[in-house]
Amino acid sequence: MLLTTSRGIWRQRQVLNAFLAPNSLGKQATPELTAVVGWGMKPNTQKARTLAEHRSLPFWQLEDGFIGYIGHPASGATRLSLIVDEVGVYYDATRPSQLELNGIGVCNLSLDRAIAFDDYQTNKDTGGFILIDRLSNTTVAAGMLHFALRRSQNIHYQHVDVNKDARAQAKGQQPSVLWFTGLSGAGKSTIANLVEKKLHAQGRHTYLLDGDNVRHGLNKDLGFTDADRVENIRRVAEVSKLMVDAGLIVLTAFISPFRAERRMARESLAEGEFIEVFVDTPLNVAEERDVKGLYKKARRGELKNFTGIDSAYEQPESPEIRLDTTQLSAEQAADAVIDALKLQGIIG
Ligand code: ADX
Repeated sequence: MLLTTSRGIWRQRQVLNAFLAPNSLGKQATPELTAVVGWGMKPNTQKARTLAEHRSLPFWQLEDGFIGYIGHPASGATRLSLIVDEVGVYYDATRPSQLELNGIGVCNLSLDRAIAFDDYQTNKDTGGFILIDRLSNTTVAAGMLHFALRRSQNIHYQHVDVNKDARAQAKGQQPSVLWFTGLSGAGKSTIANLVEKKLHAQGRHTYLLDGDNVRHGLNKDLGFTDADRVENIRRVAEVSKLMVDAGLIVLTAFISPFRAERRMARESLAEGEFIEVFVDTPLNVAEERDVKGLYKKARRGELKNFTGIDSAYEQPESPEIRLDTTQLSAEQAADAVIDALKLQGIIG
């Protein structure tokens, strides 16, 4: 289904051909979509490249945006201007920070107007697209559409009188999210659980969202492809935000392997509400512990897309709290979090 490194260009033509074949128009219309995209060309200006590297993004979006085609041109579709947002996922686990030539990622597209489309699985013609660099007029990427980010257009925000501040005040605390990230088996759940116990003992109102548990309910439709992990974290970020709005101190324990999604979670909250806690356990230590036996399975090839083995983990660059679990016991790590929260004025 995806573009591959060795055959990227070939596949790019395939998508282009399919997309030129006559077909009916798609059924959905939206200006915001999510898509899988493969890039076909390298950056070519230094300034943009520097900016892009700084923000861990491919550079094109910082210049002009793109011209793209989605659907069948003869049916009135659809040359548009678009911005590629948040290329959130990189399939090349050895080079996670930048999408390179023939790399593959999942991204969001913002279009200059609503277009008709289908998801690629339903219709390869109206679900395929290409991106054209405005400057060179060459095709730089081809992709497959997944779904509209906002499936309904007629939704407005409803004002409510009891707001976050009122709810937080009633609880006598400053709502926030403690976002634990780290490899599988790093100790996220154990430490988060201890931290929650300590906060609870102090009379704080908390809620712990744990990867393994949330994947039994809200996210039980999701697996471990990069696209599914992006969606997993997007939902968790949204739920956390609602819980912060409810006045809670939220703890999340998810691998959350990609910087872009963690940044998205951070940016969806107010300044100071997102506290990234990097549970820093090196791969060899997590693998040595292998509490659930999953690393062994992954090494035997029985478990695909396992974080750290054949799926990337992008370490936080400047987490608010870093816990070196080779030096700290779980109890000490939890105490360190509580101390840091006091220091940052989250708890008194
Ligand atoms: S995340 O990458 O999407 O943030 P999440 O934290 O929800 O992952 O789930 C990780 C847990 O699922 C791991 O602790 C492990 O128990 C289990 N798991 C099952 N398959 C995988 C896999 N392929 N990669 C990582 N964890 C997996």
